[in-house]
Amino acid sequence: MNHRKLEPGRLVIASHNAGKVREIRALLAPFGIEPVSAGELGLPEPDETGTSFAENASLKAHASAQGSGLPALADDSGLCVAALDGAPGVYTADWAETQMFEGGPGRDWYMAMGKVEGKLAELGPDTDRSAYFVCTLALAWPDGHQEIFEGRVQGSLTWPPRGLLGFGYDPVFVPDGRSETFAELDPQEKHAMSHRADAFRKLVAAVF
Ligand code: IMP
Repeated sequence: MNHRKLEPGRLVIASHNAGKVREIRALLAPFGIEPVSAGELGLPEPDETGTSFAENASLKAHASAQGSGLPALADDSGLCVAALDGAPGVYTADWAETQMFEGGPGRDWYMAMGKVEGKLAELGPDTDRSAYFVCTLALAWPDGHQEIFEGRVQGSLTWPPRGLLGFGYDPVFVPDGRSETFAELDPQEKHAMSHRADAFRKLVAAVF
């Protein structure tokens, strides 16, 4: 398949999630790209109204490309738990939504991890605890062209949460072949094996 190449220069990272922006910057560092985040440009964050990771990534990437006149890269990602029929999936961030922070709604990842654990516990002690993270990357240009790449990492969920690194559900996710959670692994190690790294490898092979 022919992919459009991404020329060196400015690229908008269409995310307002500081954890993701940090990881994406690190992954793009070797390619002569100058990442600038949607937040820094004051671009609005569109509602994630899609029902698939690809739809949501595409919505975010096009909104930033149109708003900035620059190519834009968006990531939509989430945790899919086998025993919960793939939930929370595209609703991963919504499961963390809370009103408990001063100054308006916020996200409480500890609560979200507890919700997943609660549902697994309801299914009994022998429940399959396997899960995977998905990352879908959408790269959009101001003329409407887009490229989509998907990555995954398989693992299982542990309880209680362990580790202080990373973000989101990292403290409960143990990638296959390791005993540490993503939040206990050195960021370099997580970057080498994560769903985001897998999607990035595909993007890099296609567009650079
Ligand atoms: P969205 O893509 O902004 O809808 O958010 C997806 C959510 O999935 C994130 O906010 C995280 O909580 C979770 N997630 C995605 N990637 C990771 C990861 O690498 N580690 C932990 N949680 C993640």
